[in-house]
Parts: sequence; structure tokens; C-alpha cells
Amino acid sequence: MDFNLTEEQLLIKEAASDFAKTFLLPGVIDRDEHQRFPKEEINQMGELGFLGMMASPEYGGGGMDSLSYVLAMEEISKIDASASVVMSVNNSLVCFGLNAFGTEAQKKKYLPDLASGKKLGAFCLSEPEAGSDATSQKTTAIDQGDYYLLNGNKNWITNGNSASVYLVIAQTHPEKKHKGINALIVERDWDGFQVGPKENKLGIRGSDTHSLQFNDVKVPKENRIGEDGFGFKFAMKTLSGGRIGIAAQALGIAAGAYEMALKYSKERKAFGTEICNHQAIAFKLADMHTKIEAARMLVYKAAKDKDEQKDYDLSGAMAKLYASQVAMEVTVEAVQIFGGNGYVKDYHVERLMRDAKITQIYEGTSEIQKIVISRSILNK
Ligand code: CAA
Repeated sequence: MDFNLTEEQLLIKEAASDFAKTFLLPGVIDRDEHQRFPKEEINQMGELGFLGMMASPEYGGGGMDSLSYVLAMEEISKIDASASVVMSVNNSLVCFGLNAFGTEAQKKKYLPDLASGKKLGAFCLSEPEAGSDATSQKTTAIDQGDYYLLNGNKNWITNGNSASVYLVIAQTHPEKKHKGINALIVERDWDGFQVGPKENKLGIRGSDTHSLQFNDVKVPKENRIGEDGFGFKFAMKTLSGGRIGIAAQALGIAAGAYEMALKYSKERKAFGTEICNHQAIAFKLADMHTKIEAARMLVYKAAKDKDEQKDYDLSGAMAKLYASQVAMEVTVEAVQIFGGNGYVKDYHVERLMRDAKITQIYEGTSEIQKIVISRSILNK
């Protein structure tokens, strides 16, 4: 597979890396410590075009390919996975979902602000009892003629409090199971909508994750995405692309930890020499480098499949499964290489290790990716 990056792709990668080092790195430890959302930094990312990279230019998006998006996600995730999850949800779930499946009126109304980062979006699928089992939606959207009456709770919603536009998955016809589910566009200031408490998380602590409550929220019919009953397929198709973004995030977390460990191993001395001269450390670095390269191939391949309009359900799931596993393995080894310094906050690697874990959980756990992969290879 040819991954010769174009000049434009290399420029995007460099711009993302420069932005992350200059603007995200200085406050990242403090934001993690105090669970502070990177508001100013996210605004800057919007101005630089990182929040609507793949959306069509006619609706204010960057019109870029998925590979460019993945390259930017990787660089930003090396430094700050809290900022990159905001970027990922806004780009690949919200903007992509609207751009690909929204009506002309929906795209015109919502995409320009979302793609430019003036407003943020959230993707609301998970519920207290429907995380992996996404067909078991308890949130209801009852058809009332010209509007839906929305009731229910959503959990673990990224951008829960910082978003202005919410794509909400809800059940309209329970007897039809997944074929009765709808996807609705909900605005934050509508009556009956309430943001619940913020989650106190292990990692990605700068991102704001909340539960949401919908109590008799009236959603106009024109805010339904697709035909009646299209909501589950909408969620699945959108999540397939989202998984490529999270795979890139995992890759970036792994690569960031590896680069720090490599540098540290050339500076830190023990037993009379830099620790990279000890085979115990050199072999760790060799393993880390190899795993990251393998993950990178899978992630770029999935992005290319999407760019070339090939099926990307399988390649996206494989990329997410493997890259998130590599993120965990590599960050644990990075902490080990840093030794005692790795266990304190100043050196970043403990944060990357905590951040890595979520990549095996959100947008489908590793077990969900294995369901998607095994069904595909077994033609089920
Ligand atoms: N594209 C289009 N259609 C799809 C699809 C896809 N990728 N995957 C499934 N479908 C369709 C199927 O074809 C089927 O349609 P028909 O009935 O017409 O044939 C329908 O959807 C039902 O599919 P399944 O029978 O495969 O459904 P299932 O109940 O067995 O579930 C699953 C499949 C893969 C386990 C799915 O439930 C799933 O992906 N679960 C995980 C959900 C998830 O990722 N949650 C994360 C929340 S979002 C998040 O984390 C965002 C954030 O904030 C960071």
C-alpha cells in the first residue's frame, strides 16, 4: 500500500504538530490535574480548521481527505488526547454524520458553525444500559405529528457540557427494534434538555464527559436525520468512521510516549552509561517502535479505504483494535523506562498511560471491534 504523503498532507501534519507543541503542551498537565476543558485551545483549533477537516467546503468544512485528518489527530494526540477527543467527535461523528446523511437544510443550518468550531457537537448514543448493546435504546422519541417528544438519559457523552448541537439516538417504534430507532438533531437551549454531572475520569481529564437528560424535549420533524427508522444504521455507519479517528488517537498516544521514552533513554544515565545502551531498554524501544509502525499501517490503510470509497468497517475496526492495544502496551513500557520519574506527573508518560485506556473502551470496546472483525471474516 502506497502511503507516500502528498505535500499538502505533510503540511497538515506539521501544522498540527506545531500547534500541539506551542499551544497544547504548556497547560496540558494543569488541565489534566484540574479537569479543565481546553476552551481557548479548542477555539484556536477551530480557527485553524482542525474541527471540520473533512466536511464539504460549501458548508464551511476543509474538504480534506481522511488521511490528512488522521495525520492531524496523530500529532495532536501525541501531546493532548483530551483535545484530540473533542476534535475526533466533532469531525468524524458530528460533522461527518451531518455531511453524509443530513438534508440540505440541516447541513446549511448546522454545519458551518460546527465545522468552523464556533459551536461544538456531541454524539449521544450510550445509555446507562446501552453502551455496547446499542440496539437496546431506552430513550424514546415519540411521534407527535410535526415533532418528536424526546425522553430519556444518555451517559458518558463527550463534549457533554461544551456542545451546542447534539445528535441523539432514540427509539420511536420499539416493536421494530433497531429498525425503529431515529437520529435527531437537538439544540442545547431547547426546553427539557439538561446537562447532568461531569464524570471524574481516569484519563482524558481535560475533556468534558457528562450524562444528559431529555424531559419532554420537542424536536421538530425536520431535525430527524434520514428516513424514519434510519437512526441505528446512521449510528453504525458514523461510528465506523469515528473508529478510524480513535485509532489515530491511540496511535498518537503511543507515538508520543515512545518519542519521550526514546529521548529520555538517551539522556538518563545508570550504571555508568545512558540507559539506552542497556539491552533491557534498547529491546523495549525496539518492540515499541515495531508495534507503532504496524499500528500506523493499519490506521493509514483504514483512512485510505475511506478516502477511496472502499468498505472501511473492517479496516477501521482492525485499526482501532490494534492501535488501542499498542497504545496501552507502549505507554506502560514508557512509564517503565522512565522508572520513578515515569510515575510522577511532570514527565507526561503516566498521563499518556491513563489516556490510552479509554481508546480500548469508547466508540466500541475492543470486544465490539472483535465482533465486527469476526463477523466480517466469517461473512456473517
Ligand atoms: N454500517 C451500516 N449498517 C450497519 C453497520 C455499519 N457499519 N453495522 C450494522 N449495521 C446494520 C446491519 O446491517 C443491520 O441492518 P439490517 O437489520 O437491515 O440487516 C443492523 O445495523 C443491525 O446490525 P447488527 O445485527 O449487527 O446489530 P447488533 O445488535 O448485533 O450490534 C454491534 C452490532 C457491532 C455490536 C453494535 O451494536 C455496536 O457497534 N455497538 C457498540 C456501540 C458503540 O460503539 N458505542 C460507543 C458509543 S459512541 C462514543 O463512544 C462516542 C464518544 O463520545 C467518544
